[in-house]
Amino acid sequence: MISADKVDGKLFLEESKRLVDGLLDKYLPPESADPVRIHEAMRYSVLAGGKRVRPIIADASYRYCCGNESQKEETIYKAMTAIELVHTYSLIHDDLPCMDDDNLRRGILTCHKKFGEAVAVLAGDALHDVAFSLMAQTNSPIAVVELAQAIGTSGMIGGQIADIESEGKVLTEDEIISIHNRKTGALIRCSVRIGAILAGATELELKKLTEFGEKIGLAFQIVDDLLDIQGDQELLGKETGSDSKKQKATYPGVTGKKEAREIANKLINEAISLLDNKEDNMLNFLAEYIGQREN
Ligand code: IPE
Ligand code: IPE
Ligand code: MG
Ligand code: MG
Ligand code: MG
Repeated sequence: MISADKVDGKLFLEESKRLVDGLLDKYLPPESADPVRIHEAMRYSVLAGGKRVRPIIADASYRYCCGNESQKEETIYKAMTAIELVHTYSLIHDDLPCMDDDNLRRGILTCHKKFGEAVAVLAGDALHDVAFSLMAQTNSPIAVVELAQAIGTSGMIGGQIADIESEGKVLTEDEIISIHNRKTGALIRCSVRIGAILAGATELELKKLTEFGEKIGLAFQIVDDLLDIQGDQELLGKETGSDSKKQKATYPGVTGKKEAREIANKLINEAISLLDNKEDNMLNFLAEYIGQREN
């Protein structure tokens, strides 16, 4: 039997995904506008789908912290859009031949395979620019800095360069944790924090949610590594076996698959235990979803 919680969670996920898709369509430049080719590529990669987990987390965090319902359009919705645009930019660049060299993303050809490398690089850059323009419109300089720091050299970019430099190397568990926390964890942690910041969370709430974000962020990448080995390519929408092809340092590569799965589960349970038992608690559901996802 599916519990009421699960039903609510599933509905929340579906409705949130629709909301995010609508926001992305609204805030992306139209294809008809000049320069058409770049706009086509931006919309191609962003609107291809994707789980929209990060903006949904930001929204759930905003709700968890009782953010003002009537101000969502000007604040959290813009931040959610910005976060997903930044994430998609990171995927376009991550797939490039000079990075992970992948052909498939979100069930369709990667941006560079479809439009060529130059357009893919520029489309990624342009998504970043739209994202920060939207973030600035939230009128929260703290939230803007939060995103910039999460994806900069001490966060996502730092993790991405460490990931590239670790190809073919044997790492310790601490080293792989450090890569995963930065390349993937930082943006997920920041999504939780931005939702809380824009909702006006207390220091204590923010502290707990930051820890929650760190745990689900690391778990997210451990599961991603496992899915690259064990997942279904159709469901994933990206090629499996990509990590071993590039001799990537991965979590299961360091600890073995069984232990990696156990650690991911442990992180999810620890994350959930940090949350208060609130009525409107979709963060709880999202943490479970991240641990159990199949795509
Ligand atoms: C893939 O992210 C890249 C990682 C950071 C592991 P997602 O698994 O969230 O990809 P989409 O957005 O659903 O396509
Ligand atoms: C991607 O990690 C992290 C970022 C895009 C920042 P992966 O390289 O493992 O993601 P996938 O497997 O290509 O989606
Ligand atoms: Mg990569
Ligand atoms: Mg990759
Ligand atoms: Mg991966």
